[in-house]
Amino acid sequence: MQRFNVADLLQSDNFLQEVILKGWVRTFRSNRFIALNDGSTIKNIQCVIDFENTPEDILKKITTGAALSIKGTLVESQGKGQTVEIQVLDIEVLGDSNPEEYPIQPKKHTFEFLRENAHLRIRTNTFSAIMRVRSSLSFAVHKYFTENGFYNFHAPIITGSDAEGAGEMFSVSTMDKKNTPLNENGDIDYKQDFFGKETNLTVSGQLEAETYAMALGKVYTFGPTFRAENSNTTRHLAEFWMIEPEVAFMDLDGNMDLAEDFIKYVIKYVLDNCKDDLEFLEQRLIQEDKSKPAAQRSEMGLFEKLNFVIDNNFKRVSYTEAIDILRNCKPNKKKKFQYIINEWGADLQSEHERFLVEKHFKCPVILFDYPANIKAFYMRLNDDGKTVRAMDVLFPGIGEIVGGSQREERFDVLKEKIKALGIDEKELWWYLDLRKFGTAVHSGFGLGFERLVQFATGMGNIRDVIPFPRAPQSADF
Ligand code: 4AD
Repeated sequence: MQRFNVADLLQSDNFLQEVILKGWVRTFRSNRFIALNDGSTIKNIQCVIDFENTPEDILKKITTGAALSIKGTLVESQGKGQTVEIQVLDIEVLGDSNPEEYPIQPKKHTFEFLRENAHLRIRTNTFSAIMRVRSSLSFAVHKYFTENGFYNFHAPIITGSDAEGAGEMFSVSTMDKKNTPLNENGDIDYKQDFFGKETNLTVSGQLEAETYAMALGKVYTFGPTFRAENSNTTRHLAEFWMIEPEVAFMDLDGNMDLAEDFIKYVIKYVLDNCKDDLEFLEQRLIQEDKSKPAAQRSEMGLFEKLNFVIDNNFKRVSYTEAIDILRNCKPNKKKKFQYIINEWGADLQSEHERFLVEKHFKCPVILFDYPANIKAFYMRLNDDGKTVRAMDVLFPGIGEIVGGSQREERFDVLKEKIKALGIDEKELWWYLDLRKFGTAVHSGFGLGFERLVQFATGMGNIRDVIPFPRAPQSADF
């Protein structure tokens, strides 16, 4: 007898076929009806047991969370709510689940409670739906780049350089913390450390990706990145996954086109392939909205929002235009913003980004040409001498989802910039080499994968779209 998964059985009309299925009990009603889920779909299959002929000790063990192996016949369902069901011939309890102790009961749990039980939360409808969507998005990322002639490049996770120059890195060391060796200046002597130099977990694979783009033409990395910033927000993680394409001979306009095309493709992919999960998540959002004040409710349903992104052009706006809009907008004039925008050069906060996207333009926005002094050292300087070819993609409900730029390809300009910022040139000798040997215009961007999953699933907190979130004071599991 063949084993089937629930997703396939629910599609089947091969009635009277005898099948084996394995999964976990979601609910057990009236000592007869088991709702069984095996993770292959958000839907459960109803398995109807012959109560009179099932031993009492087995019946007692059919509780929420128990793992079962069921042999049965696929039949058309007599009841409402499903088209097929299983008439159980034989049932084996593979692993029981004490209802007094099992935390995930068939009732509403708060997200806080589920985060504390992150090893079990995947057994709920909400988390299984999110993680199936996450998995599909991840596949779509590789599919898009493969179909468009990109090579996948694995950037190192341990690095000796600080790509963003923000100094928010986790150090990697095997030195004895109680007896750290010091050099003659009294500083930590990294020469005695594992790598013989100071090393950290990477904040971005970009600098290394540039080396590969300058030989393979079009590359992308998709790997874990780490930020030691003390940001306790619904959009920040200390460990997150970043997608970073890098393309030779492409300027900032090409970079904006790529980001827009890529985002639309992966969102369309989940719309086409994750219908059941998205339908469940849309209903979840509707329920959640009911408990919120009217002003905080979503203006669009999940499907509407995802289709909106696919169907509309992202609005491209220069930083200078954005500052003009912000300076003259109501919340700025009425001092409703926490950070008031007074002049050109101000760094935009998430409240400003969200105003532009959600209130002013009401669509995804790409801001470009930022002031040089609020952006990283590697971005290409414009002829005005004060702005750089940077771009950020801003999304409703999320804020910044992509950060990227055209890279400074001119050796002398880059060397000057590195010097002016007090970065040790020797650390970046290999990066400068790219500008010495066959330099060319090139660009790329980084998209925070969890922010994309947040958008696609409608989840409010980034900690709920990664299996085991790492954030300040939180690294369980
Ligand atoms: O804007 P960022 O810092 O850009 C870079 O790291 C560039 N080196 C990327 C490149 O050009 N190859 O980060 C890129 C994106 C952000 O737009 C955001 O979506 C995400 O990474 N991100 C975070 N996501 C979750 N938690 C955090 N702490 C994040 N910091 C950035």
